[in-house]
Amino acid sequence: MVYTTIKGFRDILPKEMPFWERVEAEARGLFKVFGFKEIRTPVLERTELFARTIGQDTDIVSKEMYTFQDAKGRSLSLRPEATASIVRAYIQNRLYHESGSQKLFTIGPMFRHERPQKGRFRQFHQINVELFKDPGPRSDADIILLAMTLVKRIGLKELSLILNSIGCKECRPRFRDNLKGYLVSVRDQLCSDCQRRAETNPLRVFDCKVEACKDALKEAPKILEFLCEDCRIHFNTLRDYLETLGIDYLIDQSLVRGLDYYNRTTFEIQSHALGAQNAVLGGGRYDGLIKQLGGPDEPAIGFALGMERVVMLLSEALEIETDGPDLFIATLGKEAEKEALVWAARLRKEGVRVELDYSPGGLKAQMRRADRLNAKKVLIVGEDELQRGKAVLRDMDTKVQEDVEITGIVEKLVQVLKP
Ligand code: HAM
Repeated sequence: MVYTTIKGFRDILPKEMPFWERVEAEARGLFKVFGFKEIRTPVLERTELFARTIGQDTDIVSKEMYTFQDAKGRSLSLRPEATASIVRAYIQNRLYHESGSQKLFTIGPMFRHERPQKGRFRQFHQINVELFKDPGPRSDADIILLAMTLVKRIGLKELSLILNSIGCKECRPRFRDNLKGYLVSVRDQLCSDCQRRAETNPLRVFDCKVEACKDALKEAPKILEFLCEDCRIHFNTLRDYLETLGIDYLIDQSLVRGLDYYNRTTFEIQSHALGAQNAVLGGGRYDGLIKQLGGPDEPAIGFALGMERVVMLLSEALEIETDGPDLFIATLGKEAEKEALVWAARLRKEGVRVELDYSPGGLKAQMRRADRLNAKKVLIVGEDELQRGKAVLRDMDTKVQEDVEITGIVEKLVQVLKP
C-alpha cells in the first residue's frame, strides 16, 4: 500500500517554501512596525467554543468542522479559524489586564471540511490578526490599512477592497425582521438550506453560493438603510478615514462574511486573478464576542489572510530564485574527504553555506552537482593539492580559478566568501 495525503490536505514542498517564507517574512516585518505580538494557540479546542462563536447556523459549524469525541466523550474540533481560539486565550490568560489596545497575530493551519477546489483546501493556513479594546472607527481604518499594506508588500496586484457594515445588536434585529419578511416572499426560489436559514438565521442566506438564491436576493432589503445613528456615523467616519489614507474600496451590502460574531465593519480583499475562491483576506469587527465568552465587555476587530491563495498568486506571478550555497567542496581521495569535512564544519560555524558530497564520485560529477546547486564557488581538493599545500578555488560565474594555501585556508575562505 502506498500512502498518500487525504483529500483536501497537501504537502508543501521545498520548492514552494521560498514563497511561504516571503509571505511570512513580510507579515512579521509589518506586524512589528504596527505593534502586533505573536500568539500560538492549540489546533484542537472544545467544539462548543466554535459553535457558540462562529454560530450553529453557519456553514463552518454545521457542515465543515472536523469533530470527534475524545476518550472521555468530550466533543473536540480542529480549529476552523483562529479568532475564537485567540479570544479564548485572551480571556483565559487575562491578557486584557495589560494596558492599551492588545494587538495579536498568529500564523498556522486551520481545518474545514469543504469541497476542495482551486484555492480551497481542507487544511489551509492563515495569517490572522486581532486588535482588542478599541471601539473604532480609527482602529478599523488602521486594521484595513495593515491588511492592504500587507497584500501589497507581498506583491499581489489586481485587488479590490470590499467594505460593508452589518450594524449592531440595536439595529440589526430591524434589518433581520425585514429580511425575514422578504425571504418569505421569495421562499420558493430558495434552496432548502436557505429556506431553513430564513427561519433560524436570515443573514446567513447571503453566504449561499447557489445561483438561484443569489438571484432571489437581488431585490432583498439593503442593510445600510437600516443602520442606527451610531453605526451610520461609525461607517461614514471609517469611509472618510479610508479616503484620507488613499485606500479605494467598493461597498457590497451582501458582504456578511459567513461567521456570526461580526458586527458593524466587515471587509474582504479579493483578487481578480483568482477563480471562484477570490477572497485572499477577510475580516471585521466583533464587539460582543469577548463578553459573550465570559470576558470583559471589550470591542475587537481583526482579519485573516489565506496563505495558500496568496502563495498561488505569487508563484504564478514571479520566480523566486533559490540562493545556492556559498561554496561547494569537491574532493578526490579519502584524505581530502576527511579534510573537507573539517573545513566545512569550521566554515559553517562562521555562517558560510557549504555543500559537499558525502559519497563523492568523480570530479566531473561533483562539478555538475555544484552547478545544479547554483554554488557560487567550488573548492577543489585531491591528493595532489594536499601534497602541494594548495587547493583550487573556482568562481562558477567567471570560471576563473586561483590557488589557495591550505595553511589557514578556512580564514582565507571566510574572507573571500563573507567579505
Ligand atoms: P474567513 O473569511 O473565513 O475569516 O477566512 C479568511 C481567509 O482564509 C479567506 O479570505 C481565505 O483566503 C482563507 N480561507 C478560508 N477558507 C479556506 C479554505 N478552505 N482553503 C483555503 N483558504 C481558505 C476568518 O477565518 C476570520 N476568523 C477572520 C477574522 C479574524 N475576523 C476577525 N478576525
